[in-house]
Amino acid sequence: MPRTEHDTRPEGAADGAAPPLLRVENLHRHFVTGPPRNRKVLRAVDGVTFDVRAGECLAVVGESGSGKSTLARALMRLVEPTGGSVYYKGRDLLALSGREMREERRNIQMVFQDPYASLHPRRTVGDVVREAWRVHKDVVPKAQQEDRVAALLRQVGLPEAYASLYPSRLSGGERQRVAIARALALRPELLVLDEPVSALDVSIQAQVVHVLMKLHAELGLAYIFISHDLNLVRLVADRVAVMYMGRVVETGTAEELYGHPAHPYTQALLSASPGRATAVDLDDVLPGAVAGEASGPAGTVGCPYRTRCPKARDICATERPELGTGAHPSACHFPAG
Ligand SMILES: Nc1ncnc2c1ncn2[C@@H]1O[C@H](COP(=O)(O)OP(=O)(O)OP(=O)(O)O)[C@@H](O)[C@H]1O
Ligand SMILES: [Mg+2]
Repeated sequence: MPRTEHDTRPEGAADGAAPPLLRVENLHRHFVTGPPRNRKVLRAVDGVTFDVRAGECLAVVGESGSGKSTLARALMRLVEPTGGSVYYKGRDLLALSGREMREERRNIQMVFQDPYASLHPRRTVGDVVREAWRVHKDVVPKAQQEDRVAALLRQVGLPEAYASLYPSRLSGGERQRVAIARALALRPELLVLDEPVSALDVSIQAQVVHVLMKLHAELGLAYIFISHDLNLVRLVADRVAVMYMGRVVETGTAEELYGHPAHPYTQALLSASPGRATAVDLDDVLPGAVAGEASGPAGTVGCPYRTRCPKARDICATERPELGTGAHPSACHFPAG
């Protein structure tokens, strides 16, 4: 997100000087599917590498089934990765015991897409927000918990009195604010937001995005912001990673990626949605894409995008283009210059 005069993010968060808060390295999550006689390997996440710096918003975009949620869950070990590494401030998360991981997870919290499914219907808003303090007892002393719940509700733009309400009384946007307050309760440094507004009415989406941007600036929080909506991503992201069939095919600053998309897939996404004011859903932009293994050449040979790519040549069928390194890499044999 662009810096503002109220921006308290660490200096260098947006320009690359700060060390990575999170480093994801060659992460894999494969699922074995199908009946015993016809086992198939579905490469939901297939060698993903990226950094998230303190205070930075990294957006992850891609079609349905490209592996965004699995990536989010795997880096938090909500599903176990089948390969690769995740370092949080240099600490190898995949080497931690279950207890150590639970402790570490206080720094990395998640907000899910569906605020109806993610809040327990028989717990009051106050109970939902203070839930994690039962496990992490040192975060807020009991005597201060009520005040802290009230402060968290105010922070997400809800009246303090909501603490005694049940989620069924709340609108979708209000519920998502509660989910955000819950995610903030342990004072995390990184929020993983998996389509945080896409289940909400369009009119409500902007309000919740506003809350998220305000918190990002005020608290210096880093975000992994997963979204289908290219226009929203343009508004919120410092950097963008474009996923295609379990892999990152292009990454760079939002400015670079929107201004000079290098990968034909990114170009196709952007050319189909030039400067629209409304939400642009990637699944509407490129219809016909099918998720995961079924979507075409998802194996290890060649470029997975080649069957849809206007630039494809012989080499694309035989050699897999790697993402490479640098400020704006793309996994293509013929990237735009
Ligand atoms: N537990 C599982 N078992 C088998 N396959 C799975 C499992 N979870 C996800 N997948 C598959 O992995 C692929 C990636 O799914 P994922 O939910 O990560 O995609 P996504 O990019 O988040 O999609 P969406 O935009 O629809 O949320 C899909 O083909 C999905 O069917
Ligand atoms: Mg998803």
